[in-house]
Amino acid sequence: MDRTVRTDIAKRARELREAIELHNYRYYVLDAPTIPDAEYDRLFRELQDLEARHPELIVPESPAQRVGGAPLSEFRQVTHRTPMLSLNNAFEDEEVVAFDRRIREALGAREVEYAVEPKFDGVAISLTYQNGLLVQGATRGDGYTGEDVTANLKTVRAIPLRLQSDPPPARLDVRGEMLMFKRDFERLNAEQALKGEKLFVNPRNAAAGSLRQLDPRITATRRLAFFAYALEGAEGLNLPKTHSALLEYLVTQRFPVCVERKVVRGVQGLLDYYHSIGEKRETLPYHIDGVVYKVNDLRRQAQMGFVARAPRFAVAHKFPAEEAMTEVLEIDVQVGRTGAITPVARLKPVFVGGVTVTNATLHNEDEVRRKDIRIGDTVIVRRAGDVIPEVVSAVLDRRPARTREFIMPKTCPVCGSKIIRPPGEAVARCSGGLYCPAQRKQAILHFAGRRAMDIEGLGEKLADQLVDRGRVETPADLYRLDIPALADLERMADLSAGNLVRAIENSKKTTLARFIYSLGIPNVGEATAKELARFFGSLDRLMRASEKTLQYVPDIGSEVARSIVQFFAERHNQEVIGKLRSAGVRWEEEKRGRLKPTTLAQFIGWLDIPGVGPSAAERLAEYPGGFKRLMQADAQALRRELDLSANAARSVVDYFSNPENRNVIEQLMDLGVTFTKDAAEGEGSPVRGKTFVLTGTLPNLTREAAKEKIEAMGGKVAGSVSKKTDYVVAGAEAGSKLATAQKLGIPILGEEGLKELLGQL
Ligand code: IVH
Repeated sequence: MDRTVRTDIAKRARELREAIELHNYRYYVLDAPTIPDAEYDRLFRELQDLEARHPELIVPESPAQRVGGAPLSEFRQVTHRTPMLSLNNAFEDEEVVAFDRRIREALGAREVEYAVEPKFDGVAISLTYQNGLLVQGATRGDGYTGEDVTANLKTVRAIPLRLQSDPPPARLDVRGEMLMFKRDFERLNAEQALKGEKLFVNPRNAAAGSLRQLDPRITATRRLAFFAYALEGAEGLNLPKTHSALLEYLVTQRFPVCVERKVVRGVQGLLDYYHSIGEKRETLPYHIDGVVYKVNDLRRQAQMGFVARAPRFAVAHKFPAEEAMTEVLEIDVQVGRTGAITPVARLKPVFVGGVTVTNATLHNEDEVRRKDIRIGDTVIVRRAGDVIPEVVSAVLDRRPARTREFIMPKTCPVCGSKIIRPPGEAVARCSGGLYCPAQRKQAILHFAGRRAMDIEGLGEKLADQLVDRGRVETPADLYRLDIPALADLERMADLSAGNLVRAIENSKKTTLARFIYSLGIPNVGEATAKELARFFGSLDRLMRASEKTLQYVPDIGSEVARSIVQFFAERHNQEVIGKLRSAGVRWEEEKRGRLKPTTLAQFIGWLDIPGVGPSAAERLAEYPGGFKRLMQADAQALRRELDLSANAARSVVDYFSNPENRNVIEQLMDLGVTFTKDAAEGEGSPVRGKTFVLTGTLPNLTREAAKEKIEAMGGKVAGSVSKKTDYVVAGAEAGSKLATAQKLGIPILGEEGLKELLGQL
């Protein structure tokens, strides 16, 4: 081959490598890709192609050479040039105070600057770069010798295969943690389950397992992440003066360095950092088990030195362990608010996540079977943040000879009603409904909860007693409680019945969203309750809404819609709501803003009339006289006016003659659907160009809705009545504007009159 072609190809290969490295960095380290995946793939294939055709151009640091080499039969042992140390732990604030005191005394300093960062819950590794190229990657092992996992580490896209500085340092060991992000762990386990392979217990085990694969092609399929946190054994590099500057250097070399790192001063700085990371912990995409404090000044670090195998200048401040081992003494079931039966493990008390845990959920019958957890087993219990403790797994090599399996009871342990598990569903339920005291208690607790009616002081113990003594059957009964009815209950003397009565009284003033949530409608959580309140604006409208109408609410599907309709159809629930209202529970009607103005054609499209697609909807929107006339049109008229096919025309007539559909339309109209453009263009709309003044309260329409409707039809709404006013729309308690209108002889409309003028129902 001729020389210039060769140099051109070599140049292209170099360009491609640099471009791919940069995009790798943007994607895997910065999490901010700048080109589409397909474009990246194209570059990558081009490089692979080039290297296949010109093997002499291959360099070990080429991004196309990340996955290479044959499976190993074992890992080679390697000796770390600088040992990989461990850290001393601190659990209590006092230990941190003592750490800071020791350092200040040793250094003779009044206040010390610290570099602080999360303590990653992964696997420590060491990466050796010689003359700028990654030549070795090793596990920590015993700290002095580890295993050579170079081939596996090269598959991790976040690990640079070469350094950026030119000329590069002769040698450098970068230390850091391999881990797997929570989402990648979930995905890996889902894939393992599909393939019928063993599941990993946690992301750390998954990372460790992926790193210890003899076949690098397997490691390459696992999404591993890496954070660099130290640099050792540098040769030919001017080291910065502080740990934080050293991390910045690593950033310039394209290593992933955790953004949560910080520099703080003094012991208060350390503890503040500990708490702020503690609060963030659950929302971080990876697991951490504490934070690490390091003296920032590297000279001072050297001055402090080491004891045994840990540095004196650093400490790991650990979070309370989130997982612990204990024994399952029994498996009982618990009855939830909607009757759901949850198996619960009664445990030998164990300290986990900062509290003593004696119960942990097993979720449902299938979970118990899947995890194969038996009475008598030793298990791993997890309590993360404020989440309910759960049993993670059984420790099988500790399983005693005699264990008992969990059997789902046939009847509710609280009320004796049948337990039913519908086919295809994971959850078994007590069929007792509100006859079941357990369900009643839960309903009351839910009602009183902080995010619901927020009745302070009404906790589990009290709900138990109120239900057991028959003083409260439904949430409405709470509003009949007085001091004498509470005073003789346990724990009431010191808690003060008066305070509770006051809290109950205060809860009466609430919001519609809270009230809807407090009812405990199955499948209606806080967010859905808020959407419902915003969409319907009033409880009556919500209670009248059909399944179909409900599905116009953002994020509500057929299942939730069905459960809402069922709930309000239940006589008992209607009664409770009635009693709550007559007890004085009240809220302000919500402003509604969810129904966006739409074109008539779009609205007709929403209705999902069988056989009516977007183009037929356009034509229907043109029906002379507007939507109201369209609803009454017969098939002949439709065919004549709109040139519809016989089938389409029949389908439209069928649709509009179905009372259920008319009801949906009526409800949507009532919610204030407004039509833009085509509706306003509807010939000779009597609203067009006219000025309206609104006064008083209309029975159904809010002022905003009325205004929107008028404006959508090309009218104007003014604030005060004058000779230029064309119509005054008056509702209950209309005041001086109505009087002025009468004096000036301006036509006055009620809500019905307005709707008629608007050509709506
Ligand atoms: S520095 C000389 N920083 O904790 C100190 N270690 O108990 C070397 N670890 O095996 C460690 N996050 O795997 C350091 N931000 C962090 C860390 C961290 C996790 C692990 C590391 C080491 C263990 C020490």
